[in-house]
Formats: sequence, structure tokens, C-alpha cells
Amino acid sequence: MTDFKKRLEEAYEDLASKIKFRPKLAITLGSGLGRLADQVEIEQEISYKDIKSFPVSTAPGHKGRFVLTHIHGVPTIIMQGRVHLYEGYSAQDTVMPTRLMGLLGAETLIVTNAAGGANKDFSVGDLMIIRDHITALVPSPLNGPNLDDLGPRFPDMTEVYNKELGDKLEKLAKEKGISVQNGVYCQWQGPNYETPAEVKMATILGADVVGMSTAIEAMAARHMGMKTVGITLVTNMAAGISEVELDEQEVIDAGEAASGYFIDLVMDFIKELA
Ligand code: HPA
Repeated sequence: MTDFKKRLEEAYEDLASKIKFRPKLAITLGSGLGRLADQVEIEQEISYKDIKSFPVSTAPGHKGRFVLTHIHGVPTIIMQGRVHLYEGYSAQDTVMPTRLMGLLGAETLIVTNAAGGANKDFSVGDLMIIRDHITALVPSPLNGPNLDDLGPRFPDMTEVYNKELGDKLEKLAKEKGISVQNGVYCQWQGPNYETPAEVKMATILGADVVGMSTAIEAMAARHMGMKTVGITLVTNMAAGISEVELDEQEVIDAGEAASGYFIDLVMDFIKELA
């Protein structure tokens, strides 16, 4: 057995023995968007540090726990605080929490993040439905021996982000008067923000936003057959487009400023899924 497989099994067995119910929905909350987990009725919380063989999160604005709750009756597991490549974890470890939520029973994943707007038509505070992504700049979480029980060796990536659910979210946002963009997310390793030349390169490749998470998680979810919906909050314009130097506080503040309409949209979307 590979080391990763062993650790995934250990973490799964530990978490499965601790949780009181099996989730159908998984939500991953990005920087500054963690407030959603403070607004639900928390039925159980499990700190990452208490899960055997689990990679622990240290990023600012990230809490580092799973929250179990029912949202509109849907049994839900929320990942409040993620694990990032830039913390030094391997791509496989970075997606372990996503894998665990899938293994516990979640069939749908709502994955959210803060990102820099590279598309000049976007503005700070915009929500973007992720329609596709570019992960070619970071290692694949599927490298190494394939976890055959979870998915195929060569998984198709034509529709990482479920089109039907993305369309449903777009329609709902329009009905609610929340303007949303549609676009492509490009993942970088971080922790440094990109240079202006890198942001330009990303736009030439077809990206609309740049960030340091999400795409490899969505890739792992796709590998396991989960249906994924991705939502980006543009917290700043990316380097070279922004007129000011990038700063982590700006990202956290923009997340907080958007949390009202972000939470409102996600909650109503779950009502439609229920
Ligand atoms: N680049 C990368 N990641 C980010 C950014 C950015 O500009 N903003 C928030 N996360």
C-alpha cells in the first residue's frame, strides 16, 4: 500500500468513526468566506488537528475544521479552512480533505475561493462561476499510484465543473439580482502573488482569475465522480491590473465585504438542490 493511501484510509476511518451522520453535500470555504460556517447551526465540529494523518491548515483567515450541519435539510460537511500547496504539502495531501468528504458520502461539492481578477472586465466584489480551469502550472493531485477504488487512472476532465449545476446557479443569481461572471480559474502554487507578466500569460492562456487553490481539489472530486460547482470571489485585481500592491488584508477584507451576498446565494442554491 502506498504511504498516501494508508494515510487517507487512516484519516477516513478516524473521521468516519467520529461523525454523527453521513453528508450528501460538501462545501469548501475560501479565504474570507469562512463566515458561512458561523451562520449555520453547527451540529458537530472536528478540528483538522484531531484527525489522524490529516494535513493541517495554517493559512491566515482559515480556521481549520470540518463543520457538520443540515442546510435546508441537506446533510452537509463544510471545510472551513483548506490545505494549500504553498504550505508545503504535496498535491495529494492538499486534496485529502476533498477526498475525505467524498468518501464520507458527499456527491456534490461547492468549492469557493478568493482570487485575483485577471480579466479587465471584472471588478473587485464580483462572483464568478468557475466553468473550467487551468492546472498545468501546478503538480497533479493524481500523480503516483492510482487509487483505483476512487476513480480511473486516466480520468476525463471535459466537465470538471458540472454545467447543469453551474447554469442553475447562474439563473438563481440573476433572479436574485446578484451579478455573476462566468470564467476560467488558473491555479498557481503561491504563496507569492503572480507577477504582471504571469498574469498576462494567464490571460493569454484563457484565464479570467488567478488563485492558489481549488482547481486541483476540483480535479480530485472529478476523479471520484463528484459533481462540482465552483464559485470565485474576486477580492482584488491581479498584479499589473491592480494599481496598488497586493496585500493579504485586502483579500480578507473583500471576503468579509462580500459575505452577505455570497452566503445568501450559496444558501438559496442549496435550497434548490434540496
Ligand atoms: N493571486 C493569487 N491568489 C489570490 C489573489 C491573487 O491576486 N487574490 C486572492 N487570492
